Parts: sequence; structure tokens; C-alpha cells
Amino acid sequence: MIHILADYEKDRSRLAGQTERLDNSRRALMHILQDAHQSNLRLENSRKAMIHIMSDLKETTAEVQRREQELREKQEQLVQAGKLATLGELTTGVAHELNNPLNNIGLFIGNAIDLIELGMADPQHILQELHSAMQQVRKATEIISHLRTFGRAASVSFEPIAVNQVIERAISLMQEQLRLRQIEVEMHFPAEDVIVIGNAIQLEQVFLNLLTNARDAMANAARKVITITCTAKTDVGEISFRDTGPGIPAGYEQRVFDPFFTTKEVGAGTGLGLSITYGIIKEHQGTITVAHHPDGGALFFIQFPLRRS
Ligand SMILES: Nc1ncnc2c1ncn2[C@@H]1O[C@H](COP(=O)(O)OP(=O)(O)OP(=O)(O)O)[C@@H](O)[C@H]1O
Ligand SMILES: [Mg+2]
Repeated sequence: MIHILADYEKDRSRLAGQTERLDNSRRALMHILQDAHQSNLRLENSRKAMIHIMSDLKETTAEVQRREQELREKQEQLVQAGKLATLGELTTGVAHELNNPLNNIGLFIGNAIDLIELGMADPQHILQELHSAMQQVRKATEIISHLRTFGRAASVSFEPIAVNQVIERAISLMQEQLRLRQIEVEMHFPAEDVIVIGNAIQLEQVFLNLLTNARDAMANAARKVITITCTAKTDVGEISFRDTGPGIPAGYEQRVFDPFFTTKEVGAGTGLGLSITYGIIKEHQGTITVAHHPDGGALFFIQFPLRRS
């Protein structure tokens, strides 16, 4: 009987110990469950915050895209305004250039009329005068059609172009103005065309801006020479543009590319030339810098990738 009682007591206290352990485990489990619940809540909150941030991000991205589009439109307007300003300036020179073929046409037709009136109507001779007149008509048409394409607000398309030919065309538009001011242009171009992917009209604007700036800078210079070199390296086309003027005013090397920065008198310059130039070259994935040439004068240096990435 005592045996049985002792056994029973042992079993009872073992059971009490097990119950207590079980109780502890239950409490621990409750704790874990509570923790898990809290983690779930935190996760839910984080998820909500994330959704908020994402929608914010989407709005910001849309806003940035809208701003970019606006900026692009402004830049296009600026380029167009710059072109019209250049066009206005060119008009005087062009009037002069057109005067020449028109005079010649007058002369050749006058000759033909004289020949007929004097009864010396040798058809071969008259034909020759008329052919010469026709050639001058073509020259005049070429000048005008060139100006018309330049002035048009064409949508900007990029294609392979010979940048050396673009420079030559810009010079030919300025020829009269440069000649009247005794400005010489020296060109160091390779025998083969330097082909870049670009927009000929926009690049022509770049070179016209650089030419007009050089023209203005050398107004009081003793020696007036613009030296242009164009070279094709492995994957970049390089153009240097140098004049014999006083150079960029010290400390302004960066500011000259800012819109509306000008040292010219009120009404003489808008200060847009170089900022438009900078924008166009950037759009061509190129770079432009300016420095003082060791022998004096401003030296502009341009690089274009020969292939667009
Ligand atoms: N070749 C140069 N030599 C010396 N200074 C220059 C030369 N090119 C530009 N600059 C300086 O940079 C300034 C800004 O040139 P930019 O072409 O932007 O404007 P602008 O010529 O003054 O006016 P715009 O071109 O709008 O008629 C000029 O006013 C001038 O001070
Ligand atoms: Mg200018």
C-alpha cells in the first residue's frame, strides 16, 4: 500500500512538472504568435507606405517627362529664333550676293538684244549669251533656295553628312561680309569628307554663329584671319575654329555659353548665339570648349562622335 502511494506521489509530481513545462511552452507560443501578428502589421504598414511611394514616384516621373518635353520645345523655339536673327543679319550680305548674278543676267541679255537689234543675229553667238544668262539665274536660285531651307522650321532629322561641306556652305553664305571686312579664311580640311551623323541645317547654324562672332571680335584687329581645321580621328570628328581677335574676356570662358550673355552693346547682340550652338552640339552628342590660343585670339574646339550610339 505504501509502495503504491509513493508511486502515485512520484507520478503526480512528474505530471505537475510536465504541466508546468507545457504551460511555459504555451506561453512562449503565445508570445511568438503575438510577435508574428505584430510583424504582419508592420509588414502591412510597410507595404502601404511602399505603394504610396510608388505612386509618388510615378507622378514625379510624369512631371519630369513633362518638364523635359517643355524644355525640348523651348530649345527648338530658341534655335528657330536664332536662325531668324542670323537670317536677318545675312540679308544684307545676300542682297549683295544676289546683286552680282542679277547684274550679270542683265549684261548677257543686253548683249543678246544688242546683237539682234544690230542685225548681227548669229544664232550661235546669241545662244551663248543666253546660256551664260541661264547659268547666272541658276546661281541666284541656288542662293535663294539655300536661304529658304535654312529659315524653315524643319523637324530635326539626323543623317550622315559631310561636316566639312557644311562649314564651306556657311562660309559661302558669309563670303560677302567677310570680304568687305578684309577677313581671310584659312581652311585645313582633309582630302576625304568627314562624315558625322547630324543635321546639316543645325550644324550650319553652329558655324554661322562662330563665324559672326569671329567677324565681330576682329573688328579692330590688325590681322584678320579665321583658321578652321577639320579632322577625322578613330571615332570622333574634330573641328577647331580660331580667330585673331582679342580672345574671350578673361574669366568668361564658361559664361559665354550662357543664354543672353553678351559683351556687345545693347541691340548689337542677343547673347543667344553660343548658347544655341552649345545646345545643338549637345544634341549631336558632341562637345564644345573655348580657350585662348597661345598666339592670341579665341579658339573654339568641337568634337562629334563619328557614329551615334
Ligand atoms: N570669337 C570670339 N572672340 C571673343 N569673344 C567672343 C567670341 N565669340 C564669343 N565671344 C564672347 O561671347 C559673348 C557671347 O557670344 P554669343 O554668340 O552667345 O552672343 P553675341 O554674339 O553677343 O550675340 P548674338 O550671337 O546673339 O548676336 C560675346 O558677346 C563675346 O563677348
Ligand atoms: Mg554671337
